[in-house]
This record gives sequence, C-alpha cells and structure tokens, in this order.
Amino acid sequence: MSDLVRVGLAGYGLAGRYFHAPFISACEGLRLDAVFTRSPERQAQARADFPQVRLYSAYEYLLADRAIDLVVIATPHDVHEPMVLASLAAGKHTITDKIMAPDAPSAERMLEASHRAGRLLSVYQNRRWDSDFRTMLRAVADGLLGEVWGVEIYIDGHRGPGQGWRWERAHVGGRFRDWGAHIFDQALQFSHADSAEGVDVWADWQYRYPQVDVETEVVTHLRFPTGLRYLIHISVQQRAERWERRVVGSRGTLVFYGQDPQEEALRSADRLIVAGTPEACFAREGIHFVSDQAQAAEKLVVVPGDWMAYWRNIADVLINGAELAVKPEQVLEALRLIDRAAAFDPGPT
Ligand SMILES: NC(=O)c1ccc[n+]([C@@H]2O[C@H](COP(=O)([O-])OP(=O)(O)OC[C@H]3O[C@@H](n4cnc5c(N)ncnc54)[C@H](OP(=O)(O)O)[C@@H]3O)[C@@H](O)[C@H]2O)c1
Repeated sequence: MSDLVRVGLAGYGLAGRYFHAPFISACEGLRLDAVFTRSPERQAQARADFPQVRLYSAYEYLLADRAIDLVVIATPHDVHEPMVLASLAAGKHTITDKIMAPDAPSAERMLEASHRAGRLLSVYQNRRWDSDFRTMLRAVADGLLGEVWGVEIYIDGHRGPGQGWRWERAHVGGRFRDWGAHIFDQALQFSHADSAEGVDVWADWQYRYPQVDVETEVVTHLRFPTGLRYLIHISVQQRAERWERRVVGSRGTLVFYGQDPQEEALRSADRLIVAGTPEACFAREGIHFVSDQAQAAEKLVVVPGDWMAYWRNIADVLINGAELAVKPEQVLEALRLIDRAAAFDPGPT
C-alpha cells in the first residue's frame, strides 16, 4: 500500500461525527475521503465539517468506490456483521465500532471473512486508551498496588426509557453491550488473559422498564484463573449517577470517580481533543488512592488518554506492516465472556 490510506466512513451519527471523523482526518497516513449516510441533514453536516469528502447515500456506492482502502463502520450493532462482510467481500480493509457483533458466532463469521479476503479487520476499542484505564495499568506495573485482588467498575445512572435503536433488543441495544463492549475487553487486557477460557462468569439481569425490551441493570462477576475478581455493574435504573472504577490490591486501593475527559472534550469543543496531552488526563481531584507506601499519591503517574493511538496504529499497520493493536481475535474472546454473562439473561418479563 502507498503511504496514504483512503478511508470511507459508514454512519455519521454520534460515533461517526465525533469519535471517528475528527481522528481519521487528523491522523497522519489516513485521509477521510468519503462518508456514507442516508440522512440529508447528516450529509449536510459532513459536507460542512469536511468539504472535500465524497458523500454517498447508499452503502453499496461507498463499497464500489475503488479509491477507498479502508471502510470504518459506525452504525447500530445489529448491522455490523452484514456491513463488515460486505466490506471485506468488496476487498476493503475494515474497522467496525464496538460492540463488534451481537454474539461470538457472529464475530467468528467476520474473522473467517477477513481471513478469506486477506484484509485487515479491527474493532474500535478506543477505551483501551482511556486515561483511567492506562493509569490503572501503570500503577500495577509500578508496583503501587501490590498483588491485585479485584477490580470494580460502576457505570450507573438514570436513562430512559427512551427511543431509538439503543432501546431496542432487535438492534442489540441496551447499555450492557454498549458499555460492556469496552469493559469486558479492558478486563481481558488488564488480567493479561489471552482467552475467556477458565474464567468463571455469573450475571444478574433486571428489566425494570416495561415500555422497552432492553435490560435496565446487569451485574456481572468474573473470576479469572489467577484469582483476580472483576465486578462489572452497568445500570440505567439508578437515580443517582455512579461512575467509578476501583482497583483493590494488597498494598493499596485506587479509585477513579467520573469519566475519562476525551468524550466530553470532543463533544463540547465539537472538534478533536489533543489526545495524549495533559488535558487528556483524568482529573486529579477525581482520583483517590490509599496505600501503605509512603508518598504513594506522589508516585502515582496519571497517564493521559490517547484515542488517537488506535488510529496511528491502523495507519502504521497498513502502511508499514506494524502489528495490529486491537486484534479481532482478542475482541472475540471478550464477546465470549459477554455471551456467558448473557446466558443468565431471562429476557424481558
Ligand atoms: N467507541 C466509542 O467510544 C463509541 C461511542 C459512541 C458510539 N459508538 C458506537 O458507534 C456505533 C454507532 O453509534 P452512534 O451513537 O453513532 O449511533 P447514531 O448516532 O444513531 O448513528 C448511527 C448511524 O448509522 C446509520 N444507520 C442506522 N441504521 C442503519 C442501517 N440499518 N444501515 C446503515 N446505516 C445505518 C445512521 O443513519 P443515517 O444513514 O440516517 O445517517 C447514522 O448515521 C455503535 O456501534 C456504537 O456502539 C462507539
């Protein structure tokens, strides 16, 4: 491939506009060449944001564009598989946003198609580069926590019942898979587990909104073969917000209250946050660290968030043959954990 990867973006909603287009257009080696959206309003928005892009109102037209090397899919969860398969069949390298697929068998079909086509397949697991997650990894690597016994993740608040695809089971909506896609992937990364094998999974599902058929709270417990516990609490039914990540070790407990700053900055500035810089660091006042070591708080390095790292890697893979950072095989393992948690899902009652 040449030293420029020409990208076609499918979907220009929240993710397409804020989580993909600004990064693709700013990343060295990538160029945003075309956007597919059926909506005239979104076409106008894309044209205003990026006057040079070609606009397509049908996915087939984007796939037929011979200049496009890489297709990035930012559409609802239920259409990821057919869109990925069509893109690979058209000979395009392909990235899909999370959640890669509704379940592991669907992801397996995508992997097979990518091998058949001999084209790259990756998933936008940008939250591997969240400031809090990277800081957790760094604190463990620096020995600040001792032996790590457990991680607790709370993504709780009050939403809905609402409308649109996120509130419909048929579109693989529901907050469990929306956020679980990130958290289960992080859990495998954090535990350095290559596979879902040997991980004990238990989950409790609630459906408290009769108006919709998606879950309102799921509490999942993972127990890794190493003994590490991972609690994942995802809810839309709690009137009080709770964004919390907690790492419990033999020598310290590290807690993050609130969210990585990148999403808020992207949305409010309407443009790209300068990822990897101090402004992409988790706010110090949101971090609570209790340790048995002297000056532990000073030793804690807050690592900046860096979603652009995902895109730099994609350019590096396609131009220089570097190793892919987010491998579809890894994401498939996270989906296997999600499927095991979903085995406890009684469905809407
Ligand atoms: N990685 C992250 O941090 C992050 C953050 C947010 C969202 N996401 C992910 O991004 C994806 C899209 O979410 P979103 O929030 O952007 O949704 P959204 O705002 O509803 O936008 C969805 C886009 O997909 C298009 N679309 C809808 N149904 C389609 C279909 N059947 N075929 C083709 N295109 C279709 C939409 O329609 P038009 O054709 O009318 O434009 C729109 O452009 C999801 O996988 C979501 O989980 C990821």
